Amino acid sequence: MVSIAIVNQKGGVGKTSVTLGLASSAAKKNLETLIVDLDPQGNATTGLGIYEPSKGVVNVLEDEFFGGINEVAERSNWPSDCGQIPYIAASTPNLSVCEPRLATDPLGAQNRLSISFENSNWPLLIVDCPPSLGLLTVNALFAVDMTLVVTEPGAWSVDGVARMIQTIEKIRARRIDSKPNIAGIAVNRLGRTRDDSYWNAKLEEVYSDFPLPKIHLRTAIAEASAQSLPIHGLGKRSGAGEAAAEFDQLLTLLLEGDYSENNSDEEDSVGYL
Ligand SMILES: Nc1ncnc2c1ncn2[C@@H]1O[C@H](COP(=O)(O)OP(=O)(O)OP(=O)(O)O)[C@@H](O)[C@H]1O
Ligand SMILES: [Mg+2]
Repeated sequence: MVSIAIVNQKGGVGKTSVTLGLASSAAKKNLETLIVDLDPQGNATTGLGIYEPSKGVVNVLEDEFFGGINEVAERSNWPSDCGQIPYIAASTPNLSVCEPRLATDPLGAQNRLSISFENSNWPLLIVDCPPSLGLLTVNALFAVDMTLVVTEPGAWSVDGVARMIQTIEKIRARRIDSKPNIAGIAVNRLGRTRDDSYWNAKLEEVYSDFPLPKIHLRTAIAEASAQSLPIHGLGKRSGAGEAAAEFDQLLTLLLEGDYSENNSDEEDSVGYL
């Protein structure tokens, strides 16, 4: 199983768009995928065409639920002609009240999501995180093998990514397997302005140890999410093909970084932290 958390404590940088773009690429490749929507805003859930989920990820967070993620997964509503339709562990409205409750567990509730992943074996599992460093994001970081930090090429992006990396390092120090690794820093919504080029260059300079895949600014990406459609299913819509190709490349980067039990030797070959 390859498990990836899409993270940044900063809001609106494109975590959900990248999650959905990767889900679309995986569907096209016929890769069975589970999307875990850990954000109370529920944008990944609606982006996958689920508007009134009957169950959700909250059910595995409220109590220890060994292997429970499979029981709350449901098939998404993307059209059936777009390949292997992803599954979703949905965000439900009560997810927002779950986080403060987790904080009151005297034994610590940072590994509830991890416990729910036990014995599950999705070829690809992607967790869309909320824009905060609270217990929901911490649960994701304790549960996954790798992270993808998403950022915009803008002012404060370098500092924002630094803060995120610090948090990931703290979790790595607490986990006996020293995961999650950082698979890359995706520079999203990259446009043609001088400002974008400046901040992109800055990110390249500061984070030269990491892969920095780019996702360009394209209206088709926003349209796909708004219409609850995979980017690969937008047909000839201008920019859709190019965006889809960028997500394909990003998925390849993440999958090549698979260092699960079977090929842990590869861990060092891709420049991870
Ligand atoms: N590459 C892109 N090109 C054009 N629009 C984009 C792109 N990436 C994201 N957007 C748009 O930017 C907005 C914010 O993106 P998104 O919701 O994915 O960010 P987020 O990090 O998940 O936000 P939050 O932190 O609130 O969860 C959305 O309206 C989305 O459609
Ligand atoms: Mg989001």
